[in-house]
Amino acid sequence: MLIALALLTWAVSGVVQTTTHEWFERDVSEHARLALIGAMPSMADAWYDPVRLQEQLMAMDRDVRVIGVAACNADLTTRSVTPDLPEEFRCQTVGPRVRVTGTAAGEVTPRFQPWSTIAALPTGRVYVTAMPIVSQGQALGYAVLAHDLSYIERREARAQTFLLVVFGVLALLAFGIPLLVARRVRHDWSMELHKLLRGDGKRRREFEPILGDMRDLIARMADERDDSNGQWTADRLKQILNRNLHGEKVVILANREPYVHILGDGGQTEVQHPASGLVTALEPIMRACSGVWVAHGSGSADRATVDRHDHVRVPPQEESYEIRRVWLTEEEQHGYYYGFANEGLWPLCHTAHARPQFRADDWKYYREVNRKFAEAVCEEVDSKNPVVLVQDYHFALAPAMIRKRLPTATILTFWHIPWPNAERMGICPWHNEILEGLLGSSIVGFHTQLHCNNFLDTVDRYLETRRDREQNAVVMRGHQTLVRPYPIALEWPVRWVESAPPLEECRAQVWRSLGLKPDALLGLGIDRLDYTKGIEERLLAVELFLERYPQYRGRLTFAQLAEPSRTEIERYKELNVAVERLAERINQRFGAADYRPIVLLRSHHEPPDVFRFYRAADFCYVSSLHDGMNLVAKEFVAARTDLKGVLILSEFTGAAQEMTEALIVNPYDLEKSSDAMAAALAMPVQEQQDRMRSMRSMIGRFNVYRWAGKMLVDAARLRNQERLTGRLAERTLVNASF
Ligand code: F6P
Repeated sequence: MLIALALLTWAVSGVVQTTTHEWFERDVSEHARLALIGAMPSMADAWYDPVRLQEQLMAMDRDVRVIGVAACNADLTTRSVTPDLPEEFRCQTVGPRVRVTGTAAGEVTPRFQPWSTIAALPTGRVYVTAMPIVSQGQALGYAVLAHDLSYIERREARAQTFLLVVFGVLALLAFGIPLLVARRVRHDWSMELHKLLRGDGKRRREFEPILGDMRDLIARMADERDDSNGQWTADRLKQILNRNLHGEKVVILANREPYVHILGDGGQTEVQHPASGLVTALEPIMRACSGVWVAHGSGSADRATVDRHDHVRVPPQEESYEIRRVWLTEEEQHGYYYGFANEGLWPLCHTAHARPQFRADDWKYYREVNRKFAEAVCEEVDSKNPVVLVQDYHFALAPAMIRKRLPTATILTFWHIPWPNAERMGICPWHNEILEGLLGSSIVGFHTQLHCNNFLDTVDRYLETRRDREQNAVVMRGHQTLVRPYPIALEWPVRWVESAPPLEECRAQVWRSLGLKPDALLGLGIDRLDYTKGIEERLLAVELFLERYPQYRGRLTFAQLAEPSRTEIERYKELNVAVERLAERINQRFGAADYRPIVLLRSHHEPPDVFRFYRAADFCYVSSLHDGMNLVAKEFVAARTDLKGVLILSEFTGAAQEMTEALIVNPYDLEKSSDAMAAALAMPVQEQQDRMRSMRSMIGRFNVYRWAGKMLVDAARLRNQERLTGRLAERTLVNASF
């Protein structure tokens, strides 16, 4: 502001100087002209009396601003002069400028004309003027008057100072008064806000939005601060549960169970860890919080391993929580899991060009199975206020069903896959029922803000609800549901990394198992065999890479671990065949007796195997065409304790928003994807380490304990609010249509 004021003053002072200068010069010339005109008659009178004429001139000279005066004869000689008239302006010098000669034929007497000039003398500037002296129509001669101008400069300077002072004062007032007023208002405002935050102020509407934000911020800061230096751990999560939710029992509802018991070839029971991002993320939460995981008992030895209440304690040998297995008939499994969930909702929510199939029969099973699981959840709780974590698109209806039975439960629903835009969701004939089911939750979480926005738009479009924009919530029939992004993550440290062999050993084992040469390079893909994962695009990119970068032929092997998934669905069967053919074609094109560019391993791999591959690979390519998050990307980074290896990551995964140090690609762009592989293989170790270090620090801090902790803290805050407003006690979903 001071700079602006100085510039303004400088500009104004320039204008002031020019203006006052012009005024004063006009003033002086007028003064000099009038003085001469006024003196003219008396000078003409005294022309022939030298004493009187001299007195006349001396009288004029008495004016302090006059330097000197002269009366000059028509022949330009001096008739009379005051002593101080400068030499430069005496009669002989000025005469030629004043005299007008030969203006009329036969004229003998010269005529004179008025003349004036401004001259700079060593003593200062001088204004000189001359006028003819005429008596009875005859020119007697002329008078010269020199006027001091230096006083103008003094006056100018004084005027300018005065004007600047006035202007400065005005400017200060103009800027200063509003500033003082604004400071005062701000002071009063912050005092009032302070009082309100302490709880002693009178509530005012205009403070409501900022109060909400500030409380939220304070609460968030408090959540982030604890004894573990901000690091989220299993213990810290347990503390949150005890402190904020009074240690209520946690019940997870997820279709996939974390431990599957299967009958081995020799008739023995084996335990499998399913390939599921959901399980990877939630299993550590259960170990931290204990409680019950309600899931479909899908393993061939599952029935044989449960107690009479269908419970089995897990993890094997470390038993810290229970799985409650729910049994499904063949028909239920077909209609609910393969049909509505995976042929309807799965392609609907993923932009991967598979046509969603909606069959009324599947919908009937989906509803029935949701009810079956909701009842199982209600059987497992031990209080009226349990914390229920409902997982994924298999259970869109369960939240409202549970809410109906347990009105004061805290139901946290997490949708692990993308949520499409409102138009697309409208394709599902039962979109309203799905939305109403989900709005039975206390919180509905998604990986990204975009999916939250899509969900909120869908609710706006199809249901009669109120949207609370301040809270990011939807209110339906008096029940509020928060809608928030919670990007899912891994436990930290990852137990499979802790127990993995040293990196060199992992590499040696993988090299041995794949029969690779010592100087071979290894690219890696790990997925369920699912069309959303972009496995075909990935293999095509490898093919193009070998075509465009021939120096890597014979050296790069790409290992694709692909666990068969949803194998009863036609689209998955087609994918299985397509991937197999593609791998064969590439191997025929670029392979040799001792070299296979693509190694396709289509079977279940237990986590120790998977982590061995992660730790051995030179790069890992996650090429999903659309993915809510994708935890393979995070697992690869977690596995690289040596900080080496490069992650190539599809821009269409939720993970790409967080893992910006990966080489981010569009998996449909095969040229760029193959370039990324070349860049990964040529990347200097230092750069690999810089990128890995940064991504590891992110996934270490933003781990799954934080993910769950944030949801629990938000839920506790919501519960508090509801308790305060008295809604918790009386809440029921009277109109729920289930
Ligand atoms: O992406 C959604 C999801 O539930 C993941 O969490 C998991 O990786 C995958 O689907 C599991 O699918 P399914 O249980 O059908 O094998």
